[in-house]
Amino acid sequence: MNLTIEQLKYKFEQALMAAFGLEMAGTDPMLVPASNPKFGDYQSNAALSLTKKLGKPPREIAEAILGYLDVIEICNPPSIAGPGFINFTLKPAYLEGQLNSIQQDPRLGVPKTNQLQRAIIDFSSPNIAKEMHVGHLRSTIIGDSIARILEFQGHDVLRLNHVGDWGTQFGMLIAYLREVCPEALTTSDAIDLGDLVAFYREAKQRFDGDESFQETARQEVVKLQAGAEDTRKAWHLLCQQSRREFEIIYDLLDIHLRERGESFYNPLLPDVVKDLEDSGLLVESDGAKCVFLQGFTNKEGNPLPLIVQKSDGGYNYATTDLAALRYRIGQDGAQRIIYVTDSGQANHFAQVFQVAKRAGWIPNNVEIVHVPFGLVQGEDGKKLKTRSGETVRLRDLLDEAIIRFRGYLEEKIKEENREETEEFKSHVATVAGISAVKYADLSQNRNSNYIFSYDKMLAPIGNTAPYLLYAYARIQSISRQGNINFDELGTDAKIRLQEQTELVLAKHLLQLGDVINNVESDLLPNRLCLYLYELSEKFNQFYHQCPVLKAKEAVRISRLALCGITARTLKLGLSLLGIPVLDRM
Ligand code: ARG
Repeated sequence: MNLTIEQLKYKFEQALMAAFGLEMAGTDPMLVPASNPKFGDYQSNAALSLTKKLGKPPREIAEAILGYLDVIEICNPPSIAGPGFINFTLKPAYLEGQLNSIQQDPRLGVPKTNQLQRAIIDFSSPNIAKEMHVGHLRSTIIGDSIARILEFQGHDVLRLNHVGDWGTQFGMLIAYLREVCPEALTTSDAIDLGDLVAFYREAKQRFDGDESFQETARQEVVKLQAGAEDTRKAWHLLCQQSRREFEIIYDLLDIHLRERGESFYNPLLPDVVKDLEDSGLLVESDGAKCVFLQGFTNKEGNPLPLIVQKSDGGYNYATTDLAALRYRIGQDGAQRIIYVTDSGQANHFAQVFQVAKRAGWIPNNVEIVHVPFGLVQGEDGKKLKTRSGETVRLRDLLDEAIIRFRGYLEEKIKEENREETEEFKSHVATVAGISAVKYADLSQNRNSNYIFSYDKMLAPIGNTAPYLLYAYARIQSISRQGNINFDELGTDAKIRLQEQTELVLAKHLLQLGDVINNVESDLLPNRLCLYLYELSEKFNQFYHQCPVLKAKEAVRISRLALCGITARTLKLGLSLLGIPVLDRM
């Protein structure tokens, strides 16, 4: 099935060609959902934008287009408004037909992409021996949702965890642990991530103030690079320790991705430097090997260098990213590579991408994008901190959301005089608590900062996960009350749209594919959130106005079918955000 907007665009182009000749092929119909329902459902501004090209007034163009526009199956006769906008209003019969045809379709009428891509999403990517912080949480949640959406569209997605598991910090940490806690380097479980983070901090202090320690640390790095067995083993243990902690978070969030950390690319770094040298881009400056960047200048206005090899022979974060880029294109066959990190790394990626392009490493059919996001702030508008001023541990943050939702839930259960098992309460609180955190993050335009507020994200009303989850559970309760299985209404459960709220809901339901297409291209999951929020609102308005179980038989079946499609749309949409549904809560 084709999306309504696609069908209209096609018909529009046909009419344009019929009216003004074949050279109009490929003209953008400029068709968008109408901003105000009083103008109908869709609106085209094409006639206005074509005045210059066609040398005619826009109304005349619009009239000529309408003369050939054959949309009788889809819309009421389109009308011209104002200077030459063309407005379309979908016919109830068309909407009914569309809804009836998606009743049995697990994809709810959303076609798979016909341009399948091999996509890599580089997300989450915390650093070993450091605590995973809120920024990594954002990357994890946003990256996972983007991955789910691309997978749903049919793309071949590789989810990569580019963990920071290599570099000079390991020399420092290992050297320090040899002194203060050698057992951490030889036995697993000797310390937990919290200790490791503390040791890391101490090691850094020591490193900054003690020259002979710096030398010891450097030697450890050399040993690690050279593959010395005990250093390797120590490194491996430290990675394991951190990994265990990360796994707990990933399990809680139901996130799955493949770890391929910085260390993986270590053997490939010398070639990056060599190939840059061969391509003539490499310049030596103060003993360091670098590429001078275009469009990035220092205070004096001179081009900034991207250092790929330091004067001591060591490599940088950027060198690893260059190697990773080459590997992903050359070995993984990636056609779209998406990096999800905070916007603080925008320059880093712009520089790496520029150098890779100038070196000729990015074929034309490969798209590389940085997907940046803003900061998570505390309610005071500053960087999120605990009350005592420390960075918030992610586990604590997630646990707190669960505990607080549990509080609301217990109250509600008491008010409603319900008896619920411990298992039920703990399951609902966990799902709703975690979903609230995910949704609060996803529902914001990722480019902006957002304020982390438990009260807001857990609220049962508003653009929140609990609101959507309640809407879904409400529909399931209709099915329970009426003893009806939505999936078994049968093929002759025909939808008839009579009331205004039914029409509004129907139109919204049929926009799912368009919204998903948009997120696929602009990588803004907040659009999907908004769609689902509006869907819940429209469902609630419908449910408020239209009796379902008490309606007469044919109407009852039609409305039940509408409820069933709404529930499935919510479930599908939420699943693309990494949020499961609850039948009861
Ligand atoms: N480990 C990095 C950090 O914590 C993020 C890595 C992002 N991915 C990449 N390919 N550089 O900031």
